[in-house]
Amino acid sequence: MRHLLLLLGVLGLEVAAQNGTLTIGIVSSQIDDFLQLIQNESLANRDTSSRQPSGCALACSFLNFALRGQVSFPESTVYEYQESRYWSVFQATDTPTCRFAPIDPLGVSLAVLTVQVTQCEFAVKSGGHGMFSGASNIDGGLTIDLLKLNQVTVSADQTQTSVGSGNRWVDVYSALDLKGLSVIGGRVADIGVGGLTLGGGMSFFSGRYGWACDNVNTYEVVFADGSIREVSYSTYPDLYFALRGGGNNFGIVTRFDLLTFPQGDLWAGSQTYLYSNETASALNDAVYWLNVNAPSDPFGQVILAYAYVQSFGAWAMSADLQYGKPVAYPPILSNFTKPPGAIATDLGITNLTALTVSFNDTNPGGFRETYWTLTVKNSPTILNDLLNIFIDEINPINTVANMTPAIVFQPLTNNIISHFSRNGGNALGITTADGPLILVNIAISWSSANDDAKVFGAASSFISRSNTTAYSQGVGFPFVYQNYAALQQPVFENYGQKNLAKLRAVSEKYDPFSVWQKLQPGYFKIF
Ligand SMILES: Cc1cc2nc3c(=O)[nH]c(=O)nc-3n(C[C@H](O)[C@H](O)[C@H](O)COP(=O)(O)OP(=O)(O)OC[C@H]3O[C@@H](n4cnc5c(N)ncnc54)[C@H](O)[C@@H]3O)c2cc1C
Ligand SMILES: *[C@@H]1O[C@H](CO)[C@@H](O)[C@H](O)[C@H]1NC(C)=O
Ligand SMILES: *[C@@H]1O[C@H](CO)[C@@H](O)[C@H](O)[C@H]1NC(C)=O
Ligand SMILES: *[C@@H]1O[C@H](CO)[C@@H](O)[C@H](O)[C@H]1NC(C)=O
Ligand SMILES: *[C@@H]1O[C@H](CO)[C@@H](O)[C@H](O)[C@H]1NC(C)=O
Ligand SMILES: *[C@@H]1O[C@H](CO)[C@@H](O)[C@H](O)[C@H]1NC(C)=O
Ligand SMILES: *[C@@H]1O[C@H](CO)[C@@H](O)[C@H](O)[C@H]1NC(C)=O
Ligand SMILES: *[C@@H]1O[C@H](CO)[C@@H](O)[C@H](O)[C@H]1NC(C)=O
Repeated sequence: MRHLLLLLGVLGLEVAAQNGTLTIGIVSSQIDDFLQLIQNESLANRDTSSRQPSGCALACSFLNFALRGQVSFPESTVYEYQESRYWSVFQATDTPTCRFAPIDPLGVSLAVLTVQVTQCEFAVKSGGHGMFSGASNIDGGLTIDLLKLNQVTVSADQTQTSVGSGNRWVDVYSALDLKGLSVIGGRVADIGVGGLTLGGGMSFFSGRYGWACDNVNTYEVVFADGSIREVSYSTYPDLYFALRGGGNNFGIVTRFDLLTFPQGDLWAGSQTYLYSNETASALNDAVYWLNVNAPSDPFGQVILAYAYVQSFGAWAMSADLQYGKPVAYPPILSNFTKPPGAIATDLGITNLTALTVSFNDTNPGGFRETYWTLTVKNSPTILNDLLNIFIDEINPINTVANMTPAIVFQPLTNNIISHFSRNGGNALGITTADGPLILVNIAISWSSANDDAKVFGAASSFISRSNTTAYSQGVGFPFVYQNYAALQQPVFENYGQKNLAKLRAVSEKYDPFSVWQKLQPGYFKIF
């Protein structure tokens, strides 16, 4: 450690004496030595449990010296811009000591080694849609912002797209739409490729292909020892399994090679109703029947949402329908368009880019945000019951300033689940024998910290009451979807004992010092 500090000190003086160009020259000629030295030092320092208080200041100045122009500090334009690229206020108000935006995987590798030598805690950000503090930002630590890793490259045979892990889905889709191609990814324009894919990844086309994590041919990963490796089912089957649902526990992914398929326009939009018992019951039944009938047509998808709308002083509901072909009113979705009395409808032929931009508009950032989730077996009555529990929890607090509370039902059809077993299977612990299922999530946004306790109280009460109700009706299911979960919810425990044991073993094999857990404290951890 002292050796490295000395070296940094000496080089620091040199930096002061030189201007930018010369500095970069020195570093690039010595970068291999640096990497070696840091690697040696980090191996020697791994068991130190105490963090150096100056660790992140040191890490930041070293990276700033070594990779000039890629590090930003508070109050600079670059830092403030990157801080503004978080969806939830809880993340946007975390203030790291510095932000590092590497332009290549080697930079990520240098950072991974540097944080170990300096014992600096860090966070990694892709699209910044994680909702709670610390998910992809960190107070007083180092935030590695992947936004510059933004390549989108289609293979010559058009069957694979290599996507830098800092891309937002809209940038991937707009490149692919032009070529009549697509991939499995997020449904809101600004969501990041990184977080969505590592947690699972429900797409408009999942009925045909499964989740995003089932459609990655190869991951380029920076390991805890700083090495950069290509992880596929054939090279590292155990780690490949772990990355399919393992979140940020297994390395920093710098590139995803995504299975790519032909895709043209689709039919999509939403049908909105004011709340009534009859219509709500009919739409909930329609979710049940879609789950039953999905195997006859994997192109149909729905997101059914109920929300309290403060400006109406009433509950409303909206069935967001998607059909993966440019065919209007397909029979598979007919039960969702049947109920009369829609107050708004915008169903029509569109493309993926435009559709995700419209979803982006209806999910604005800049609020306090919380998501919670549970999963239930397919049942026509449980959805009515969960909706009523939600209404019961929200009505007493419906004057919370600028609050938009929503409960969302999505069929997890056996079409989708059948792809979970591809290439050795993903880590989520769900098989078609469990399905079909319904993913339930609540999403609440509001604006004042004074209301935090009320909102969190209602949300957590909703989850425990709902889960109890589901289990009492014999339709409980343990899965807690990482991408929709609140930090208080148990994610990996519910992948099943066997899968959790496998994940832990993979971690011990490739990351014996638990760098991704100990030095990267944010988000869901396997231990
Ligand atoms: C408005 C909205 C719409 C959504 N729609 C969908 C949807 O359609 N389908 C769906 O499945 N989910 C959806 N989600 C959930 C979404 O998938 C998660 O919030 C996801 O974590 C967002 O990914 P991100 O990269 O934007 O977030 P970030 O906050 O950047 O990252 C989330 C976590 O992943 C880690 N991470 C990100 N990139 C990497 C990487 N390259 N290597 C290692 N770790 C990494 C981060 O460290 C962080 O812990 C939605 C969320 C919101 C808020
Ligand atoms: C660096 O300093 C040298 C000598 O002062 C000068 O000639 C050169 O233009 C400077 N380069 C930059 C990029 O400022
Ligand atoms: C790192 O450790 C290896 C093996 O112990 C040694 O050969 C090498 O010289 C060390 N490198 C540096 C830069 O200290
Ligand atoms: C997608 O739809 C938008 C809006 O209708 C349109 O402007 C755009 O050209 C379309 N893109 C492609 C590739 O067709
Ligand atoms: C629509 O709902 C009815 C029951 O009301 C059901 O019999 C039918 O199978 C459903 N159709 C589809 C396509 O889900
Ligand atoms: C998504 O919405 C945010 C505001 O919530 C906006 O800043 C951003 O530009 C939007 N992205 C796209 C692609 O429309
Ligand atoms: C519901 O209860 C089951 C069984 O006790 C548990 O495994 C699961 O984590 C719970 N789900 C949620 C969302 O709390
Ligand atoms: C509508 O009312 C019936 C009869 O009281 C009830 O069984 C059902 O759960 C209600 N539906 C909803 C969505 O509340």
